[in-house]
Amino acid sequence: MVFKHPVNPVIYTLEAAVNRQCVSVTLGTIRKRPAMITVIGNLKGGCGKSTITFNLAIWLAGAGENVVAFDLDPQATLSDVAEVRQEEGVQPAITVYRPESNPTKIMREHQGEVLVDVGASNLWAMRQAIAMAQRILVPVPPSQADVWSTARFRDIINETVINRKEPPEILLFINRADTHPGIRESRETESALASLAGVTLLENRICQRTAYRRSFSEGRAVFELPGGNKAAEEFLGLAARLYPELPPFRKKSNKAQRLNKESPSDDG
Ligand SMILES: Nc1ncnc2c1ncn2[C@@H]1O[C@H](COP(=O)(O)OP(=O)(O)OP(=O)(O)O)[C@@H](O)[C@H]1O
Ligand SMILES: [Mg+2]
Repeated sequence: MVFKHPVNPVIYTLEAAVNRQCVSVTLGTIRKRPAMITVIGNLKGGCGKSTITFNLAIWLAGAGENVVAFDLDPQATLSDVAEVRQEEGVQPAITVYRPESNPTKIMREHQGEVLVDVGASNLWAMRQAIAMAQRILVPVPPSQADVWSTARFRDIINETVINRKEPPEILLFINRADTHPGIRESRETESALASLAGVTLLENRICQRTAYRRSFSEGRAVFELPGGNKAAEEFLGLAARLYPELPPFRKKSNKAQRLNKESPSDDG
């Protein structure tokens, strides 16, 4: 049943509204405070922007944060996966807005966490989001081409915020790293990124793992797959680094997981 929100989010269901109440019952009051805007961006396609945004949105919602996500990419991957999550009835539900929802106004008025998934296919929206962001999180696959495009992205960020007194933090991390320690690209990419001026390279490395594709197709975060998996461990490390003030993720009981239609996980 669709619940029409006055500011027209594409995905906002009665379930989502009810879930907000459930979250406040189980986790206490949902924390509200001035918007903290994190843009997840980079110029190159396929670096993991939507995957990271989706997982972070669920992690934040699970931590009791009042989180909204924006999918400003015409491909609408984030909206699609949020829709799958909604259809599967997985909790907590997440709220994803599309570009036609008046993102600037919603971001300005939102109290809590804001995540923005945006790529080069919508440069105008990318600049708008960067102009408002407190920080830019940049997933970088391990390759020379990605180092070059990340440097260009940093330049675009700097041009966009040239008149701001407090520019956003630019946080880079390796995504889709090879799991084999003998392969040098991740280390080489990290040292190239570390030499870029005006950015912070996070130590958290996310490897290329099948759990991301598997969980995504089910509308779940990697850490919601049953059992332990390395993808979850790495992702939770990244989330804790980004939001050190929030409590660590606690997995639901086995019973709650069974109720959530579980399926097996694996790592690759
Ligand atoms: N760490 C990872 N391990 C395995 N697969 C990953 C990982 N991160 C992303 N992927 C996969 O890579 C593909 C691209 O990821 P995603 O759609 O998140 O990238 P994107 O940067 O949003 O791409 P686009 O620029 O096209 O919007 C997807 O199939 C996703 O499942
Ligand atoms: Mg995407």
